[in-house]
Amino acid sequence: GGLPLDASKLKIVNKSTPSKPRPNDELVFGQTFTDHMLTIEWTKAKGWDVPEIKPYGNLSLDPSACVFHYAFELFEGLKAYKTSDNKITLFRPDMNMKRMNKSAARICLPTFDSDQLIALIGKLIEQDKHLVPEGKGYSLYIRPTLIGTTAGLGVSTPDRALLYVLTSPVGPYYKTGFKAVKLEATDYATRAWPGGVGDKKLGANYAPCILPQLEAAKRGYQQNLWLFGPEKYITEVGTMNVFFAFKNSKTGKKELVTAPLDGTILEGVTRDSVLSLARENLDPNEWEVNERYYSINEVAEKAEKGELLEAFGSGTAAVVSPIKEIGWQGKDINVPLLPGEQSGPLTKKVAQWIADIQYGRKTKDNWSRV
Ligand code: COI
Repeated sequence: GGLPLDASKLKIVNKSTPSKPRPNDELVFGQTFTDHMLTIEWTKAKGWDVPEIKPYGNLSLDPSACVFHYAFELFEGLKAYKTSDNKITLFRPDMNMKRMNKSAARICLPTFDSDQLIALIGKLIEQDKHLVPEGKGYSLYIRPTLIGTTAGLGVSTPDRALLYVLTSPVGPYYKTGFKAVKLEATDYATRAWPGGVGDKKLGANYAPCILPQLEAAKRGYQQNLWLFGPEKYITEVGTMNVFFAFKNSKTGKKELVTAPLDGTILEGVTRDSVLSLARENLDPNEWEVNERYYSINEVAEKAEKGELLEAFGSGTAAVVSPIKEIGWQGKDINVPLLPGEQSGPLTKKVAQWIADIQYGRKTKDNWSRV
């Protein structure tokens, strides 16, 4: 009940002096923010309040607010790109809004009309458009966040909430562009499980993954390759979805594979984009594109037989992140790379297909929204 989210009611308070854009090479992921943020309060009694764009600044919350105690928090990540014809476009924002509403519904926070929030995000970008970086690998990272703000320690449905959106000019995840990473296959800690919330973008899914990452780092690996269950199924890598490419040495056929969306896998927008583009661009006589269960044992066996071709992570932040090595049971599985390069040929192509759409060199369906 209550009022729906209404972008036409937007109120704007300008920062007195607009800041100057930082040079691209000074941009560190998520460390610089633009001049303004969007905030919208919600109460059970009245519904969605007037949306406001105002100078970036601290929030004031009661220390007993339920977000701090019981993790009533979810977020999204999407990007806006400066295209070659000087437009600013959002990449598939409808997918993020849909997922954000699913996350909200799961932890009893209010849902909203996706188009209204996309319109408001558009206004926020417009407000700070001089701070959207330009160039290969550069974009504006957008962080919509929804928190329960009800004061008090009772564990119940929040009757107050705050939706806010921050924007951060970002560069390529790795300064050198593509840099292949080393993973430690992790079975002693579990990222997500059936009946859990691994498919929702809840902050609570992320904090418990740092300690295993530090453990892996001690042994020289940058990220965890998250396994699940007695079968040691491969699920995700770090904070990203993961893809493997195999070849069948008997039939000569190749396969691109990622885990199926069974409730334990984040419904990644980049994951979905990779699958669509692979199905569209790869020759079906040469390639199969599959969402199926596959295990670290299968990868180890295939590597042994020379049938492991490539592996890469997919996510909004890094887009495509090549993998060069996987530590598993005291041995390292090597993933082949192109000679003198940081990825295999398919990984490189996939990254190019996505970048072409994001930077407006190609169009697909309604993936880019001006
Ligand atoms: C992604 O975009 O891959 C992420 O999930 C990263 C984000 C948590 C910083």
